[in-house]
Amino acid sequence: MIIPTVVAKTFLGWHGSGRTRPGRIECEVGVDTLEFVTKLKFTHETTKLSLICELLAVQLANDLGLRTADPAMVLIDRDFCESILESSDRERLERNMGLNFGSRYLHPGFGVPPVRDSLAGAELWRASEIFAFDALVQNVDRRRDNPNLLMKGNDLFLIDHDLALVSSILGIPHIDPWLPTAITFLKDHVFYKPLQGKNLELDGFRAKLDRLFVDGKLYEALANLPDEWTDGEESNLDKISKHFEGLAQHQDDFFESVTKILQ
Ligand SMILES: Nc1ncnc2c1ncn2[C@@H]1O[C@H](COP(=O)(O)OP(=O)(O)O)[C@@H](O)[C@H]1O
Ligand SMILES: [Mg+2]
Repeated sequence: MIIPTVVAKTFLGWHGSGRTRPGRIECEVGVDTLEFVTKLKFTHETTKLSLICELLAVQLANDLGLRTADPAMVLIDRDFCESILESSDRERLERNMGLNFGSRYLHPGFGVPPVRDSLAGAELWRASEIFAFDALVQNVDRRRDNPNLLMKGNDLFLIDHDLALVSSILGIPHIDPWLPTAITFLKDHVFYKPLQGKNLELDGFRAKLDRLFVDGKLYEALANLPDEWTDGEESNLDKISKHFEGLAQHQDDFFESVTKILQ
């Protein structure tokens, strides 16, 4: 997946909801101006690792056929910072000059989908894939009280992956990601209840995942992260690589764990 670099032009404010207060930034994209929700690499709540996890997870989701807000690298430069009048906003952005993680602002007509206790047909199939995806990247942040999903009509888009992969990287003790104990957090998942006791429809998802492992696409995404994010993060990147290597070797165990947790 090609990730465009877009240039920050106009600061519109912060997203108040959520833990990390991402920026609302209008960016120049060729001849267009588009708004990106921008997660910064240096704040109290986020680090370069958060942005690495965002970018890897969003690429993997797309490769597995799930929809996400379009990702981009948002370049914050001095001119942009100097255009901001309010000093605390300016200082927060100045600390984050260079590349940050952007997701194309989804609007209008997008809303948070209602939390449901039962699903059927295509919705069940889609929920199965999102559940398996969150197991794969150990995303603890798609809960009933905060689904991090946006919906328009019948289309569902994933957002917010800065906590994906983190427990596999920083978790003490480390738990192999294909074991049931690595994904107990999924009991709080927005789709846990409607999927409980159901047969997951994951054949297509499994086939796509297997192909990604065979093609080495995940490792390509790891190798293509911007240097300014990866400098000093080598040991964490190594852990992410090992996370996926382990899953590639234990795919049957992994899917068995996903099924087991829903029994
Ligand atoms: N691409 C997007 N389009 C529209 N709204 C978004 C998008 N990304 C984030 N938001 C809004 O910003 C809030 C915070 O962003 P999010 O990525 O969830 O960060 P946090 O880690 O702080 O929860 C979300 O709950 C949502 O309301
Ligand atoms: Mg969120």
